[in-house]
Amino acid sequence: MVKKRTCIFISGQGSNLKNIIRHSRDKSFPINVNLVISNNKNAYGLIYAKKYKIPYIFINTKSKNSNNKILFHLKKNSISFICLAGYMKIISNEIVRKYKKKIINIHPSLLPKFKGLNTFRRIMKSEEIKTGCTVHYVNNKLDDGNIISKKFFYLEPDDNEITLKQKTQKKEYRAYPEAIIKIFRYS
Ligand code: GRF
Repeated sequence: MVKKRTCIFISGQGSNLKNIIRHSRDKSFPINVNLVISNNKNAYGLIYAKKYKIPYIFINTKSKNSNNKILFHLKKNSISFICLAGYMKIISNEIVRKYKKKIINIHPSLLPKFKGLNTFRRIMKSEEIKTGCTVHYVNNKLDDGNIISKKFFYLEPDDNEITLKQKTQKKEYRAYPEAIIKIFRYS
């Protein structure tokens, strides 16, 4: 099996990055992590790129030609698949177009509910009885593309934003690798 050359985009903690890297070391896992792009030069998650000797770059997405820089590095590293993992920036239309159906994201809610930021705070204020995470394709709208998979759990009376985040991320660490396997199962 030829593994897809993959770039992971991060902005912060990078716990999903770490999880995907670990899975990618299994030879039957369909992707290899060949590049990490961060729009935050202090992103904690960059330590995993360093630890596993994966090339990484910081791209200042506030600069004018950041899209071209991203595209340049994707091409230079022959990247054919992209996973967003806590990347706090909307992917430009140009990149979405060039990597059509090749970019996926994980969001900490059961989409289409609770798109956008401050997800856990909004869930805590809601009447929901369950929540979870969703892996989906990226299109040019926020948290909107076709859904690949979801995992859920029931809210408990003593849940708060912190426990919700912990429980959601635990689901994410299973959901993201499973979604990647599902995408490439028949290819
Ligand atoms: C995850 O909870 C993901 O759902 C959201 O951002 C968070 C990133 O966490 N998009 P980490 O950086 O992977 O630890």
